[in-house]
Amino acid sequence: MTGRKGILLAGGSGTRLWPITMGTSKQLLPVHDKPMVYYPLSCLMLGGIQEIAVITTPEDQPQFRRLLGDGSQWGLSLSFIQQPSPDGLAQAYLLAEDFLAGSPSAMVLGDNIFFGHGLPEMLNSADARPAGGTVFGYRVADPERYGVVDFDETGQVRAIIEKPAVPPSNYAVTGLYYLDGDAPALAREITPSARGELEIADLLALYLQRGALQVEQMGRGFAWLDTGTHGSLLDAGNFVRTLQMRQGLQVGCPEEIAYQKGWIDRAALLARAAMFHKNDYGKYLTELVK
Ligand code: DAU
Repeated sequence: MTGRKGILLAGGSGTRLWPITMGTSKQLLPVHDKPMVYYPLSCLMLGGIQEIAVITTPEDQPQFRRLLGDGSQWGLSLSFIQQPSPDGLAQAYLLAEDFLAGSPSAMVLGDNIFFGHGLPEMLNSADARPAGGTVFGYRVADPERYGVVDFDETGQVRAIIEKPAVPPSNYAVTGLYYLDGDAPALAREITPSARGELEIADLLALYLQRGALQVEQMGRGFAWLDTGTHGSLLDAGNFVRTLQMRQGLQVGCPEEIAYQKGWIDRAALLARAAMFHKNDYGKYLTELVK
């Protein structure tokens, strides 16, 4: 088991998705057959992480607790932390400082979906670097919507720029951050940006200055999906449905990962299957033990 702890950042308001997010948290919306938050949670699990803090707004926390419980159904230990207002991604490290207690962490944004052959290996190699940080670059057609990697002539990373008007490359930084135990102390050094947020780009800049940031490329064989607009949310659901229908395998199924990793036994898996016996998700879980 890795000593790295997980942070699932699922606060914020998701105002771009109004009106569907006016009654619920964005990260609880369905992406095809499961809540959005299952996908980033599964990503942390694929990386071998069992101790996870879920950061939500105070209002949304009861819903997340009801959905996720204490995580024991998946062999996880979940803690819940409140973020009163969306004051920036880097704030998560301050809020989670006591939870992390000096451990390295993997933080994933609650609206990011990753899929691809070799993902566990990629996560394992990021986990194996105890010092410094690792982030993942992914080629996108619309980099101006993301944190963007600026490479120098030799291909070294010069900077990560948040939502640049003129993007220096097509490589966006995905919402998955492997940082060492210094992250909370470094987060304390940064100040709010012009938009009033503790920017993850500013925290990563401190790692870059120390020569301690690795940018791994996620190649074109990976899918990093966006759920930020009504259209991309539907596209993500269709992508998951298409793959699942074709392969007969689930994308982002916490029960399956937990069972394969030996974190839950057959009886625990079947108990979950029984809960969902009226639908294909439950049938899938039942098949897994055969
Ligand atoms: O998705 C990857 C991108 O995520 C990165 O490329 C950017 O560098 C990073 O800043 C972030 O950009 P977004 O524009 O997607 O950030 P947004 O403010 O939409 O927040 C992303 C998620 O994190 C969203 O589900 C809400 C949640 N969040 C956000 C903030 C600012 C929080 O839980 N707390 C916060 O304080």
